[in-house]
Amino acid sequence: MYSEKVMDHFTNPRNVGEIENADGVGTVGNPKCGDIMRIFLKIDDGIITDVKFKTFGCGAAIATSSMATEMVKGKSIEDALKLTNKAVAEALDGLPAVKMHCSLLAEQALKEALEDYFNKNNIPLPEGFTKPDVEHDED
Ligand code: FES
Repeated sequence: MYSEKVMDHFTNPRNVGEIENADGVGTVGNPKCGDIMRIFLKIDDGIITDVKFKTFGCGAAIATSSMATEMVKGKSIEDALKLTNKAVAEALDGLPAVKMHCSLLAEQALKEALEDYFNKNNIPLPEGFTKPDVEHDED
């Protein structure tokens, strides 16, 4: 049911932990399954130099947080803002349809962390900034 990549990132997640004095922190929870994800960002000169996550949730949520953090590490804020949950799921060689909402949690946590960074630094939100809705609408 899960791809090898999902199993790999679930059993051996990358970037687990916290960043002290992070430049941006985003916490999201899915009210239906109760899973919670938190992403910490270190940002220098518009580049995400470090990223860590803590996820209290299902295997797919852990795998997608792990993959999403790998995909934005070393990237510019602009590139990180373009990351979608579909791109994360594709990088994991797909997720079962009922688990796609778990990848939304990763996209939203990342965007919350970026929003926190913008707010802390009095940077206006970029034009078109949106965060996905994490409700289990499609289940
Ligand atoms: Fe809740 Fe996966 S079941 S995030």
